[in-house]
Amino acid sequence: MSLKAQIDLTKIPKHIAIIMDGNGRWAKGKGKFRIFGHQNGVNSVREVCESAAELGVKCLTLYAFSTENWSRPAKEVKALMQLLVKTINHEMPTLQKNKIRLYTVGQLERLPTDCSSALLEACEATKQNDQMDLVLALSYSSKWDIVNAVKKICERVTLGEIKPFEVDEMTINNQLSTAQWPHPELLIRTSGEHRVSNFLLWEIAYSEFFFTETLWPDFTREHLYEALVDYQKRERRFGKTSDQLVEDKV
Ligand code: IPE
Ligand code: IPE
Ligand code: MG
Repeated sequence: MSLKAQIDLTKIPKHIAIIMDGNGRWAKGKGKFRIFGHQNGVNSVREVCESAAELGVKCLTLYAFSTENWSRPAKEVKALMQLLVKTINHEMPTLQKNKIRLYTVGQLERLPTDCSSALLEACEATKQNDQMDLVLALSYSSKWDIVNAVKKICERVTLGEIKPFEVDEMTINNQLSTAQWPHPELLIRTSGEHRVSNFLLWEIAYSEFFFTETLWPDFTREHLYEALVDYQKRERRFGKTSDQLVEDKV
């Protein structure tokens, strides 16, 4: 049976988050510059977006550029930003055809103006689409997001809108840049690295992790299916015992 046929369409995660890693190593392995890997990574982004939307995933969050990535050589950062503008313009038909709505999270103001304006325009142009939300995490880090959330809560306390003892999980959740989406049920990281690299720290508290050795430019729809098949075999217990879950079902 094909991998796709093994997927239970009634148990598709609502939200999948992906740390797209390994572009540089992929290019180096082919004797090319790192940017060649980023360029080829765009094909994987397109394929994964299309197949996730087709399967009925409601939100796909892609880690495209971290706050820490600003420390990379200026030449690579510049090339990545140029690639971003080119890709947004080029991929508009793909987004529209698949009814995908684009969002960004992160410090958009740190991006070059042509980048941030292209992104804002694309978000605006796709706002009528309702098949899937595609969230690009750009100049994003989860600690930055949490710090911001804490600042906003402190302001509300100062204004007397909320009392410190009233602060609960929802208060924090509602101030995160990702507040409008459910937390990802599945987090995928490519390239054999087993770390989170400052991505969605709060939101992945109960996510299932899927790590693969595949480098991002080699990641295809089949790899996404593989992750989903694996995810669907797991028992998500949320602290309960296995027996309790069986009892809950009957
Ligand atoms: C992921 O690939 C893309 C970004 C972080 C922008 P990398 O560029 O990190 O590739 P490796 O991990 O060095 O191979
Ligand atoms: C994480 O990848 C960030 C993105 C995929 C955008 P990195 O390649 O930057 O992560 P580390 O630094 O190796 O953990
Ligand atoms: Mg990397």
